[in-house]
Amino acid sequence: MVKAKSYNRGYVILIATIAAFGGLLFGFDTGVISGALLLIKNDPELLINGMPQLPERTQEWIVSITVLGAAVGALSSGRITDILGRKKVLIIIAFIFAIGSVGLAAANSVAMLIIWRLIIGIAIGVASYTVPLYISELSPTHVRGALVSINQLAITVGIFASYLVDLGFANVEEGWRWMFLVGLVPSLILAIGMFFLPDTPRWLMANKGEAKARKILDKVGETNKEEVLEQIKTNIKKENKAEGSLSILKAKWVKPALIIGIGIMFLQQFIGINTIIYYSPTIFEMAGFGAESANAVYEAILPALPIGFVNVLFTIVAIYLVDRWGRKPLLYLGLIGMIIALVALGVGFTFHNSLGEALKWISFVSMIIYIPFFAISLGPIAWLLISEVYPTKIRGLGMSLATMVNWGANFLIANTFLSLGKVTTGEMPNPAGEGMLVNPGGAFFIYAVIGILGLFFVYSYIPETKGHSLEKIEEHFLSGKHPRDL
Ligand code: BGC
Repeated sequence: MVKAKSYNRGYVILIATIAAFGGLLFGFDTGVISGALLLIKNDPELLINGMPQLPERTQEWIVSITVLGAAVGALSSGRITDILGRKKVLIIIAFIFAIGSVGLAAANSVAMLIIWRLIIGIAIGVASYTVPLYISELSPTHVRGALVSINQLAITVGIFASYLVDLGFANVEEGWRWMFLVGLVPSLILAIGMFFLPDTPRWLMANKGEAKARKILDKVGETNKEEVLEQIKTNIKKENKAEGSLSILKAKWVKPALIIGIGIMFLQQFIGINTIIYYSPTIFEMAGFGAESANAVYEAILPALPIGFVNVLFTIVAIYLVDRWGRKPLLYLGLIGMIIALVALGVGFTFHNSLGEALKWISFVSMIIYIPFFAISLGPIAWLLISEVYPTKIRGLGMSLATMVNWGANFLIANTFLSLGKVTTGEMPNPAGEGMLVNPGGAFFIYAVIGILGLFFVYSYIPETKGHSLEKIEEHFLSGKHPRDL
């Protein structure tokens, strides 16, 4: 383990904070749709053939196309960040975010909305891979964990900010255009900020020579500079050897690491987090919030605010606990809490007929319980684990594969939530009296069952990485021992 006595704290925090605007945009642009959707689905300009509302499948596509774009973005990130450099890629996606925000705000048809949401999605996918990579490669070793976690915090801040913005424009005519346009501000901050930041020592060494890498290490105040430079050189050599030979994937030690990364990302999404992040105002509307009110949209978005806030708050708690309690206790606690909340949601919606008004509060309380349990567990820990478990030789490949699985699974959830409710439990009357809404009860039960399977997966397969250096973890995997025995 490399220990640094002092480093250039202010500069390093500035770097992490500016780059984390990429995480903030990831959160903002995925969260903003939750409130925007309520206005979009009823906007007469977007409706065709006198339909009363956009069909659910169309709504699901508007929400989930971004996530599909992110999967594509994540897949290509490894290569483009190696070719162009981390800094250039972050500047390019900042411009894509900016142009996308304007494009979305100006969209005048469902097709244009879907195209711009797809483009923004690609930028989100690239950001979700590149920001943690950029921060970790620029961080002095002993503060890397905390600095990388700033990214997850930024994601939750972005989601919360998007809920605030949604609320602010809920009562404005065509308010959804303004909601999207606000994304322009963080995009410009990222573009301008990144312009003044350096690329990473790791990339500079591989592409521009040792002198440049050395200069940046001096700037961040890495006190073990020579050791770090040596390590970078060795890793680059190792990777060059591994490059092009996909046969490395057949090695016995590779499989467990891949299963952990893919499994934890699958679980992070199939526990249903994004039905709450993307659809919470829709769920609140189904539960009766805003029914028969002139302020219906506002009243359905309002209860989402505490959800966004609690998410931020408990991500901070997680950053504090993760190196003290360890990853596995937090995962157990989080999963148990989420399973209970999901069952309550499932029961509430399934028995909505006999519950009446009470459904509103059951749904609100269950969701406000669900979120902190996610935020202390699968939220940050899934991303953390994928940055820890891969031996250097397959780190890039493993991380981009896991990131892609994250977005792919997210797409399946976001794209089926409304329909799944319909298939499993039938339709329920819309409390606002405008036709029928779907009943999501069955979907929540499915996520609860996945949570139970997740408990077994964590118990039997996830290693406790707390307190182990990356070298130690790598050695454990290379020796072919079972991950749980770490
Ligand atoms: C997940 C996102 C989710 C967010 C919520 C992230 O870790 O990857 O899908 O929307 O947490 O805070």
